[in-house]
Amino acid sequence: MTPTRIGILDSGVGGLSVLREIRNLLPSSPLHYVGDSAWCPYGNKDPQTIRERVVEITDYLLSHGAGIIVIACNSATIHAVGHLRATYPVPIVGMEPGVKPAAEKSRAGIVGVLATEASIAGEKFHQLVSRHAQGVRVITRPCPRFVELVESGVLSGSEAEAAIDEILTPILETGADAIVLGCTHYPFLRSIIEARLPDSVFVIDTGVAVARRVESQLPARGNGENVASIQIETTGDLDHLKKLLPTLLPHVECETSHCAI
Ligand code: DGL
Repeated sequence: MTPTRIGILDSGVGGLSVLREIRNLLPSSPLHYVGDSAWCPYGNKDPQTIRERVVEITDYLLSHGAGIIVIACNSATIHAVGHLRATYPVPIVGMEPGVKPAAEKSRAGIVGVLATEASIAGEKFHQLVSRHAQGVRVITRPCPRFVELVESGVLSGSEAEAAIDEILTPILETGADAIVLGCTHYPFLRSIIEARLPDSVFVIDTGVAVARRVESQLPARGNGENVASIQIETTGDLDHLKKLLPTLLPHVECETSHCAI
């Protein structure tokens, strides 16, 4: 059986933090990624615009052979996953900020959720909080600067540290002991985020859980002997993407191209 081609999308390069987990778990599944960098960020867009872009990219991935779609973007999942599941006959895997594991694990009962403005405003996000964080104080903070940093390949240094401190300091002052990385761009800053947290505070990222979900929904797997291809496309600047990839996905071989949609 030919292994299913996995179509993955995000507003930009953030979803590559999910792609790397899928690659680790399913090395013989071909991956096709579209980063919508020409429209990045989604975080400040209205729900309809986000949905239209996600539909456009999904159509593109399906027309290029994807047999499963991974929305490697919390904002896009919150505003488009219902529509996609009602529209397309293939499995659609989405992702949401890890409020549930954070609320379960927090001893302080105070959780900081870093996510985009679009995610935090979404009805689905409010349902997530009321369903899984009863009795827990949830502090939400949009971090558009983190997205800009990752899109420009700045993953360390004083500029990134200052942006992180500005967000984390007021959250830590509340006594929160859990920080949820509720946007797929943020895991690329995880090591410097963790370095700036006290040991008592833990970080939640759902990338690995999403990869497991993809595995469970995958129509056909490879036999594990062959390492499959990875195609990474951007709607933005291809030269910029090529410069970023060695930093974001070191030692991962992939083909790159521009996607004109
Ligand atoms: N990576 C995205 C997410 O998970 C969105 C970032 C943005 O475009 O604002 O929400």
